[in-house]
Amino acid sequence: MTANESAGNAQYIMKASGVCKKFGFVQALKNVSFEVGPNEIVGLIGDNGAGKSTLIKTLTGVHQADSGELYWKGTQLTNYSVHAARDMGIVTVFQDRALSEQHSIWRNIFMGKELTGWGGFLRVKKQKEETQRMMREMMGFTSSFMTPDTPVGNMSGGERQGVAICRALYFEADLIILDEPTGGLSLSETRKVLKFVRSIKESGKSCIFISHNMYHVYPVADRIIVLDRGEIVDAFVKGQIDIETLEARLLEIAGTSDIDLKVPVGSKAIARE
Ligand SMILES: Nc1ncnc2c1ncn2[C@@H]1O[C@H](COP(=O)(O)OP(=O)(O)OP(=O)(O)O)[C@@H](O)[C@H]1O
Ligand SMILES: [Mg+2]
Repeated sequence: MTANESAGNAQYIMKASGVCKKFGFVQALKNVSFEVGPNEIVGLIGDNGAGKSTLIKTLTGVHQADSGELYWKGTQLTNYSVHAARDMGIVTVFQDRALSEQHSIWRNIFMGKELTGWGGFLRVKKQKEETQRMMREMMGFTSSFMTPDTPVGNMSGGERQGVAICRALYFEADLIILDEPTGGLSLSETRKVLKFVRSIKESGKSCIFISHNMYHVYPVADRIIVLDRGEIVDAFVKGQIDIETLEARLLEIAGTSDIDLKVPVGSKAIARE
């Protein structure tokens, strides 16, 4: 087994095999084979333009691959679409577009999936109660200033990511894809997001966690995949590599290993924020 195969055994929930994608003359993905196992957190790291978003857009039916195959739980996907991905239980949470700012937390949780009762009436009370329970049990929000009616626009970036992730978990997504969930967040907000990624693991679901920053990915990922100019150039099972070795390898891939970047390890995660 290579590190690019899901940890433990050859089982996977989502698999891409030999995927290629071109935009005009840009080869965004070159023969990419990638998989996510059940209850596995896969960190996907790479520089700007490496092809990370293109890969997840291909996995979620936004882009059609030029060649290669996609499989979901052992079945090859044909006529794949965004709709099909959603129906299968794949949810993508984007950094900025995850939620509607002017709406309350409970509205955001149930948006497009409203609970309705007899006659089609909205079950507002039930939705607020469920939101309150999620806030307490899943999001760990204990402040009395934050209620299900609080507008999402009043929440911090990390808290918003938490709401989006809890929404996905509540509606039983099997695979949650986070595209740069920690981009632009402070260290304490980043910690909140990492806690939510852990809650995905604890709930038995799988996750692809995309980031530029290996210090965000490393603590929560089971495996780390490195994309560079459209190709998977390295893959590590977390237990088999320490963070210093990973850093050295990434600098080598970036072609900057001769530049002295010596900064105390703990401060690097902050450096980008
Ligand atoms: N819709 C598109 N049309 C044309 N070119 C595109 C499109 N989407 C991506 N590309 C190109 O494909 C390459 C990979 O882009 P992609 O967005 O996947 O990178 P990324 O790893 O997500 O980068 P970032 O870290 O900046 O988000 C880039 O050269 C980009 O310009
Ligand atoms: Mg991207």
